Amino acid sequence: MEFVTLNNGVKMPMVGFGVFQIQDADTTEKAVAEALRTGYRLIDTAEAYGNEEAVGKAIRNSGIPREEIFVTTKVFINHMSYEGAKEAFNESLRKLGLDYIDLYLLHQPVGDTFGAWRALEELYKAGKIRAIGVSNFKEDQIANLSIFNDVVPAVNQIELHVFHQKEEQQAYQTSKGIVTESWGAFAEGHNNVFSNPVLVDIAQKHGKTVAQVMLRWQLQRGVVSLSKSANPERVRQNFDIFDFELSEDDMNHIKTLDTKTSVFADHHEASTVELLAGFVFKKF
Ligand SMILES: NC(=O)c1ccc[n+]([C@@H]2O[C@H](COP(=O)([O-])OP(=O)(O)OC[C@H]3O[C@@H](n4cnc5c(N)ncnc54)[C@H](OP(=O)(O)O)[C@@H]3O)[C@@H](O)[C@H]2O)c1
Repeated sequence: MEFVTLNNGVKMPMVGFGVFQIQDADTTEKAVAEALRTGYRLIDTAEAYGNEEAVGKAIRNSGIPREEIFVTTKVFINHMSYEGAKEAFNESLRKLGLDYIDLYLLHQPVGDTFGAWRALEELYKAGKIRAIGVSNFKEDQIANLSIFNDVVPAVNQIELHVFHQKEEQQAYQTSKGIVTESWGAFAEGHNNVFSNPVLVDIAQKHGKTVAQVMLRWQLQRGVVSLSKSANPERVRQNFDIFDFELSEDDMNHIKTLDTKTSVFADHHEASTVELLAGFVFKKF
């Protein structure tokens, strides 16, 4: 496993396993158990995924020492305030059955993010969280949060895949010591990504799958990747990316796939903020 060192010295694995959209508890527990058996040491969940209990169970039953597993969870917009974030954190800790979290993120740049950030700073300083960060933030929002608070986020977890490569954002974040972590490494299969001819060509050349090429591309770019699979064979396949290297030519070909647009709902459109806020407030 390769690791990246965060801005506070904490080491984070470069390849992680996510559990979004595996809500069924039994399936989640089995998937996380399989991921840990395979070698994954970064598990990414969120209060909004509704599966922290199953994730915690798989971690506790894995037999792997707690300090070897890097656990991320996130506070959602219904708790995006000082009091709300504290409450959500304690609830996540209880559901996971753990006594600290490795990385705790503001899930969206929506709601009272400043209030919530101050709660995260306190929990971090009290030793309950090893690193704090954000998700789905843009550069200006990171600058604002960092300048007017004490702790600079360690990580920004953002949509990043071959169709939305975000090189400029990664460069900005790197310049501020913030690690870029991707979600949706496979664009959740959008745009027929698994049969994209450029990726199929590269995969065949290396005797690898398109999924492995996409994850290897993220690793070589210095991006921490997250992928999800509830299929044991794919869980193993997605971790088997450390025995080959993409050439400069491969990397340049993948660059041509960048459309610089989200394949999901762009978090920086008013309609997305309204949609997310609509889960909590009915006024929109
Ligand atoms: N911060 C955020 O706002 C945010 C948003 C979305 C996601 N995330 C995090 O990022 C993680 C990954 O993103 P994601 O789950 O949305 O999408 P993803 O990893 O891009 O795609 C998952 C999809 O790809 C399929 N798949 C997995 N491996 C495959 C393979 N080797 N070959 C073919 N198909 C494969 C999965 O199906 P099977 O399960 O059937 O294999 C599933 O349908 C999440 O689980 C979550 O932890 C964060």
